[in-house]
Amino acid sequence: MHRHLFLLPLLLIVCKASFLPPPVAAASSLRRIPATNITLETFDPTLPPALMSKTPPKCSLLVLHHVFANTVGEPPAIANFTSPLACPAPWTRVVLELSLSASDVQKDRIAAVWVDGAEILRTATPLPMAAGAFWKVQKDVTRYTALFRRLCSSGGTAGHAGAVSMMLENSNASLPGVYSANVTLHFYRGPLAGAAPNRFAYMAHPMAKDIYRRPADFIIPVSREDGDCGSGFWFRLENDTNPPPAAAVAVPRNTHRAVLEIFASYHGADELWYANPLRAAYDGGGATANGAFRQIYATVDGRFAGGHIPFPVIYPGSINPFFWSPVSAIGAFDLPTYDLDLTPFLSLLLDGQPHEIGLGVRDGQPYWLLAGNLHLWVDPWSDTVAAGVIDYRAPPLKVNRHAEWRNSDGGSEINAEGTVRFSGWVSSSEGNLTTTVRQKVKFRSQVEVQNRGAVMQVEMTNKERTTVGVLQRGAATAAARVQILVEAPLQMKTERVKAVGGAVFERARVSHQLQEVVNLNENGQAVAVGVLTDRQEAEGSVLRKEGEGAAAAAAVLPVWGSGSTRATYKYRDGSSCYMRAVSAAEGVVKSDMTSASCATAAAE
Ligand SMILES: *[C@@H]1O[C@H](CO)[C@@H](O)[C@H](O)[C@H]1NC(C)=O
Ligand SMILES: *[C@@H]1O[C@H](CO)[C@@H](O)[C@H](O)[C@H]1NC(C)=O
Ligand SMILES: *[C@@H]1O[C@H](CO)[C@@H](O)[C@H](O)[C@H]1NC(C)=O
Ligand SMILES: *[C@@H]1O[C@H](CO)[C@@H](O)[C@H](O)[C@H]1NC(C)=O
Ligand SMILES: *[C@@H]1O[C@H](CO)[C@@H](O)[C@H](O)[C@H]1NC(C)=O
Ligand SMILES: *[C@@H]1O[C@H](CO)[C@@H](O)[C@H](O)[C@H]1NC(C)=O
Repeated sequence: MHRHLFLLPLLLIVCKASFLPPPVAAASSLRRIPATNITLETFDPTLPPALMSKTPPKCSLLVLHHVFANTVGEPPAIANFTSPLACPAPWTRVVLELSLSASDVQKDRIAAVWVDGAEILRTATPLPMAAGAFWKVQKDVTRYTALFRRLCSSGGTAGHAGAVSMMLENSNASLPGVYSANVTLHFYRGPLAGAAPNRFAYMAHPMAKDIYRRPADFIIPVSREDGDCGSGFWFRLENDTNPPPAAAVAVPRNTHRAVLEIFASYHGADELWYANPLRAAYDGGGATANGAFRQIYATVDGRFAGGHIPFPVIYPGSINPFFWSPVSAIGAFDLPTYDLDLTPFLSLLLDGQPHEIGLGVRDGQPYWLLAGNLHLWVDPWSDTVAAGVIDYRAPPLKVNRHAEWRNSDGGSEINAEGTVRFSGWVSSSEGNLTTTVRQKVKFRSQVEVQNRGAVMQVEMTNKERTTVGVLQRGAATAAARVQILVEAPLQMKTERVKAVGGAVFERARVSHQLQEVVNLNENGQAVAVGVLTDRQEAEGSVLRKEGEGAAAAAAVLPVWGSGSTRATYKYRDGSSCYMRAVSAAEGVVKSDMTSASCATAAAE
């Protein structure tokens, strides 16, 4: 990945101005961090995905091992896998464990894991500043059990025979690091300690917004290749094309519920879309100053079917790599996915014919990597179900852009808001159920540039409220209703000064949060509530040498650096609470506190 692209234009502007050396106080507070002093293990303090210590997995299977050296333009690495005979489906839980190490210094890269062509993890690597960096990503993938259960090819043995694939686009041409990866699947059977029914905690990773307690019966990939049972691959979007790239999918005629899950990451000119001003001397990386607003959306046969404003995940090489070592930025190791309930659109899809599911990014610039999974629940008692559209109100988000600039300095503001409503009925053996999806979005972004381009301030807030209600025909209260509230504020300030010898001194501060509140009601009664708050604050400085071509790649690694990060992850539902607070500075963990008690967490 490229780093701090948005800062390049600032640098160009700054170069024209006259320069002061770095402030003395700041310079003396800088310490060179020898590689040997950096903690080699990087991690993201989130929920433990499974209570591994209390209930060990029934089977653990190393499904793929691969070394990613020079993989740009290559197909994903692929391995056959057969689900273990010793622990057949159904499973109470399946956990994916991705264990990685970097042989040497390298840029941060993007990677993904697919099962039979359906993506199950999108992840960024840390920026390895020393040889031997390693990390682990664990993700509850119970939501995808349909993939592990079905029979894709006649693999010979009983059980599932399919393919696990992984891509990590790396190049060891200018930096020596190669990434070594192991993909392991842990299958759990039987009751799990601590996991009571009707409880969100530990049932699934809350960031997956896994509001559906029963995993889907089928998962159909929406990916570039004919992914189904293949290796799978993401769509690469250069810009906001209309119509967006699409995959043809045919759904079983007895589908009574459909949810599209979208995986997304941004690169190149859009790697720091959240800091993109509306107007400035913007060049470098091909980025256009089009503002810090993006919307990921899906289409069904060319019709808008819903969208989400992406959560601005800060990649490990972005802003200041010392912030994200050893604690990664929120979501960097398990990029959030975006769910769209497509049940109201089922009447368009149930004719047994293939239909085009498209994935796009409004205002996107080169380039985005997108892929989708269509989660389908079928009616086992019927061969076909009937469905109809009741309401379709999808006005595009109202986006107001305002900019005031004088030469390189100024400010820009974007406000976006809107409400969509989709409603449709599905008549199956469960009755004639009307599903209504309502989504309200309120988004605001401000980008200010001062001191002839040397100071940049970014403020962004996104508030989304999505409600999915299911009403039985003739009933007065909803059979089920889920409300998800997402609030994601980001504040960032960077100051750059040119230092001696063509180096650049950068000081930065970031404050970032993801809050998600999920409420589930059944027959008018609240049955569950879950609140997740993931917060980080970081500040520090780096001194970098700028270069061109191969020198630019080598310049990924700062000459000097300093950074401290505080991360607090809290998850609470009706009956349990989990909290982890980590503080790190100068590349090492200073304190790491985990609590399973709400009393402690409440006192925080
Ligand atoms: C770095 O490591 C050396 C020896 O391994 C130690 O003496 C020094 O105090 C460490 N520096 C920091 C900042 O931790
Ligand atoms: C996977 O299995 C198929 C046949 O079952 C075989 O043709 C293919 O070469 C195998 N692929 C790998 C990567 O082992
Ligand atoms: C992958 O697994 C192999 C064999 O168990 C092990 O030697 C290697 O260290 C593992 N690599 C990583 C990155 O975990
Ligand atoms: C890249 O890595 C591969 C595999 O480790 C190695 O064979 C190759 O020599 C490396 N290339 C460079 C330019 O270092
Ligand atoms: C969008 O990308 C396509 C394909 O790369 C290109 O042909 C087209 O000119 C681009 N459009 C804009 C508006 O940049
Ligand atoms: C299901 O209910 C909707 C209205 O709620 C109605 O329009 C539709 O005809 C019903 N379908 C069947 C098959 O009963």
